[in-house]
Amino acid sequence: MSLAKKLARQEIVTMTPYQSARRLFSSNNANQEAIQKIWLNANEASGPGIYQLSSDCLNRYPDFQPDNLLTAYSNYSQLAKENILATRGADEGIELIIRTFCKAYQDNILICPPTYGMYAISAENHGAGIIEVPLIINPNTDIDLDINALAAQVGKVKVVFLCSPNNPTGSLLKAAQIRQVLDLFKDSAMVVVDEAYIEFCPENSVSSWLLHYDNLIILRTLSKAFALAGLRCGFTLASSEVITLLSKVIAPYPIAAPIAELASQALSEKGIAQMQIRVQETRILRQKLTTWLQAQPWCQQVFQSDANFVLFKSQYKDKLFNSLKSQGILIRDQSKQAQLSHCLRISIGSERELALLKKILDKSLQKMISGHLFSTTENTL
Ligand SMILES: Cc1ncc(COP(=O)(O)O)c(C=O)c1O
Repeated sequence: MSLAKKLARQEIVTMTPYQSARRLFSSNNANQEAIQKIWLNANEASGPGIYQLSSDCLNRYPDFQPDNLLTAYSNYSQLAKENILATRGADEGIELIIRTFCKAYQDNILICPPTYGMYAISAENHGAGIIEVPLIINPNTDIDLDINALAAQVGKVKVVFLCSPNNPTGSLLKAAQIRQVLDLFKDSAMVVVDEAYIEFCPENSVSSWLLHYDNLIILRTLSKAFALAGLRCGFTLASSEVITLLSKVIAPYPIAAPIAELASQALSEKGIAQMQIRVQETRILRQKLTTWLQAQPWCQQVFQSDANFVLFKSQYKDKLFNSLKSQGILIRDQSKQAQLSHCLRISIGSERELALLKKILDKSLQKMISGHLFSTTENTL
């Protein structure tokens, strides 16, 4: 039996997925015969609504996996369509993976905190256990996986979540260590590499490894570099066998027609070129912000980031956070995360937004010098 079938919940392997009207008969545009059918099998209205979208198909359920969208992502990712599942954001991918591979109240996932919070939330929702193997954060903020501690968990977990670049640290995992984890768990667990931020450092993607590792699953999204968080569109990349299993668990019509239309435009040649310009701008602004933070007396540490945010440590983090908040600028407090006490995360906004942020923090510094703001030290580090 294949690894995926061995690992998956048996009820998923044997179940027949919901046979939606559009799964039974796709309305794929390439198939003229299908378009000419009279669709009376899904209790739909027969005419278009009053919407202004270029798409006139809002009265119809969309295809289970809209072909224009999968073709666009296949071209972009250089993977076959059978290796791609479009989802409502990468978050839905996380949930599907847990629901597919973990038996509730029996199986565990493994996470490496500090990391993205939804792995644990989705596991909890489903009743899966959570085993933590913390990242090793070196003094220079370089990050390592704890390979020995991970090896001790082989056989105890069904899914391992790695995140590279990692949220909230921004750091990439080392390719050699990801390989070690894939090898360690090759007979016992799926290894998810969350590449939500990979467009900011595309040369570090492990998507080409899918050919060699049948326990590798990759998560992607249009929410970050493609600037389409409101669209709720992500992609899970894996062997066709894993994609087939996840397809049994996902909702019957996961991708709304307008989403597929807009996402396909974002994945066109022009859309990708625009995304790449955005990535270049983000990298320049990130470097400027990093250099600036490093020069601030209130900043103890800045994490090296390969994503669209920067994490830093300050013993005055509450005061910095609040002075920004009082001026309408919201950043993210990460100090409750393991190993990240006193840490704040700034997303790379526009040049104007970051200039404003620096100005407000500069003013705080002036107050600090004149003894007003930091007259009482917050917590000691
Ligand atoms: C590491 C990581 N993975 C996944 C997601 C979820 O992305 P989406 O908006 O596609 O659901 C996020 C969102 O912040 C993230 O940081």
